[in-house]
Amino acid sequence: MTRTDMLKPESTAKIDREIAKYPADQKQSAVMSALRIAQDELGWLSTETMDYVAAYLGMPSVAVYEVASFYNMYELKPVGKYKITVCSNLSCTLMGAGGIVDHLRNKLAIDFGETTPDGRFTLKEGECMGACGEGPLFLVNNRRMCGSLTVGTVDQILAELE
Ligand code: FES
Repeated sequence: MTRTDMLKPESTAKIDREIAKYPADQKQSAVMSALRIAQDELGWLSTETMDYVAAYLGMPSVAVYEVASFYNMYELKPVGKYKITVCSNLSCTLMGAGGIVDHLRNKLAIDFGETTPDGRFTLKEGECMGACGEGPLFLVNNRRMCGSLTVGTVDQILAELE
């Protein structure tokens, strides 16, 4: 049985606005937006949350699992308050992403896929984010892109987030 009170009314109102962008019989087209909105509120996507989204959109749960597991901006297990996704593709690597990753690993004392014990930071490896000229770069919580990184700017950004 899927809970009907999984998300706050503000979040379901946002999902309803996304659904309204599509024809009435195509509610499932809003699945990516609905997952993003659910993740924004809850921090990650549990099976229960994905089942809720599936029921809300009138689509099979497995179809929602497929979307959520395909795109790396969705989290299928809990992450820290700040998720730092570092691009490790070719252009960023050539522009020094390796040094940035080493610095983050040392400073946060975690590796890719791990979260600091205080629950503040999760470090993830990401694919090209289409901003290669700004490399090396990372994304904070899928939204804030920080580019042209140096060890110094990384320290500044981490200090802001602390
Ligand atoms: S290679 Fe990093 S943004 Fe394209």
